[in-house]
Amino acid sequence: MEMANCEGLKDRVCVVTGAAGGLCSAMAEALCEAGAKVALLGRTETKLLSLARLLQQKGYSNTLPIQADVLVREDLENAREIIRERFGLTYLLLNGAGGNHPRAVTQVEMLQGNTEKELAEGFFGLDLEAFDAVFDLNFKGSLLSCLVFAEDMARAGIGCIINISSMSAQLPMTRAPAYAAAKASIDNFTRWLAVHFSKSNIRVNAIAPGFFSTAQNRFLLYEKDGKALTARGRRILSQTPMGEFGRPEDLKGAVRYLASPELARFVTGIVLPVDGGFSAFSGV
Ligand SMILES: NC(=O)c1ccc[n+]([C@@H]2O[C@H](COP(=O)([O-])OP(=O)(O)OC[C@H]3O[C@@H](n4cnc5c(N)ncnc54)[C@H](OP(=O)(O)O)[C@@H]3O)[C@@H](O)[C@H]2O)c1
Repeated sequence: MEMANCEGLKDRVCVVTGAAGGLCSAMAEALCEAGAKVALLGRTETKLLSLARLLQQKGYSNTLPIQADVLVREDLENAREIIRERFGLTYLLLNGAGGNHPRAVTQVEMLQGNTEKELAEGFFGLDLEAFDAVFDLNFKGSLLSCLVFAEDMARAGIGCIINISSMSAQLPMTRAPAYAAAKASIDNFTRWLAVHFSKSNIRVNAIAPGFFSTAQNRFLLYEKDGKALTARGRRILSQTPMGEFGRPEDLKGAVRYLASPELARFVTGIVLPVDGGFSAFSGV
């Protein structure tokens, strides 16, 4: 059977925020492959236009790039109007926009002493505004997008939301407390909203990607030669039972499964790890 038929996603209207991102562009492509109409939302129009061009070259012309900041409600409402006109009511929202901020990250993993320098390099050196920015982007950006696009779903009597969590949500990675707490709030919100919409035929789930190698983070994982792993890269792989980094396309199956009104009809409120076994491994 053709994939597009078994999933029931053909011609369904899907919205992906942060669509031009390293992981999100692959997730948007997964929806195109399933025959959906895909609105590509993001902050930078040029990036969205090149993604749409790339998808067109691959044979997917049912995309709609729209500049929209997930923290600006009017941007989202404006996008919803354009999507309604061009495609119809939104069936699926994939809340992809997310990320960290350099000043919401400590310079050391553990506080080692109490000199001025040591205190500043740890918890006490964190910047509250950067903390706010990370919470806003990851949590409020998803919340606002749900407020705007789930209204279409409630009206249509069918819908699906996919949030993006992280391995940091359950057990926080060192140095990034804002990102970890914001992603934990995404897991919690996913469950809350799943229950809230349980009688409305709107399913709400999340995907928790493990460690992926993307254009943006490759320099953190590999030395300049592009082959030898950095110390951090080695540490991550030693904690990943499958012994490799994920590739963005490894998320495609999870997206299409959770998005499918047929394959995942009875699935709501879950956080699905796609992590090569990272979250199952105790380290010994
Ligand atoms: N990469 C990983 O290994 C990894 C692992 C676990 C979880 N995640 C999560 O997966 C999601 C997607 O990651 P990714 O790798 O695709 O991210 P990415 O490559 O960093 O891209 C993020 C995208 O979000 C857009 N964006 C940022 N702020 C926005 C805003 N206020 N409104 C609208 N769009 C905004 C960016 O657009 P501009 O470039 O125009 O600003 C960019 O296109 C994020 O939630 C991330 O936290 C990633």
